[in-house]
Amino acid sequence: MKLAVLVSGSGTLLARMIEEGLPITVVLADKPCQGLERAKAAGILTELVDRKQYGYYGGAGDNWERRAFSEEVADRLLDHGIELVAMAGFFTVLHAAFFQWFRGRITNIHPALLPNFPGEFAVRDALDSGATETGSTIIVATEKVDDSAYILAQVRVPILAGDNVDRLWERIKVEERPFYVRVLREIMSGQLKLPDVPPPPAD
Ligand code: GRF
Repeated sequence: MKLAVLVSGSGTLLARMIEEGLPITVVLADKPCQGLERAKAAGILTELVDRKQYGYYGGAGDNWERRAFSEEVADRLLDHGIELVAMAGFFTVLHAAFFQWFRGRITNIHPALLPNFPGEFAVRDALDSGATETGSTIIVATEKVDDSAYILAQVRVPILAGDNVDRLWERIKVEERPFYVRVLREIMSGQLKLPDVPPPPAD
């Protein structure tokens, strides 16, 4: 099963995948970032589809060419014969059009116990909520952001007195690194079956 890993940032989850010898065909990023550098240093093929070239200058709005960007990402992955796409700290919301490819074969990892605390500020929101635990969720991603319809696995992390966002997020990541590697291995070996995800609504 040919795996692509999508990153935008520090790529510490990716680093663990590399360390543990997970076979990765290509690492793709939406901007120059440390994750991409880690992949290059490990001799893994990389692709950069820079979202700035599609008019993205920050924010969550749709005042940029999200669809063209997302289709280019899909094209590059298809060119590499990718069969499984693992988002690992990929911070662009891909256009719905992306999800017609790799249907049901796109995973994402979210730093909260979905359906609790979806969205960009999951760690802060969990902290602010007064909850005593949070965690991480691996899902099959669809066009709905942080969709909890297809949860593959979860890991729990306690929220400790005196936690701040950085400290809590790092403790979550300590759990996430081996967790994502394990789940991806289970998918690639066929031990964990991915669910059938119905086609997206016609546009
Ligand atoms: C992880 O916490 C993951 O849940 C979230 O992004 C973070 C990626 O961290 N989607 P890193 O860039 O691999 O350090």
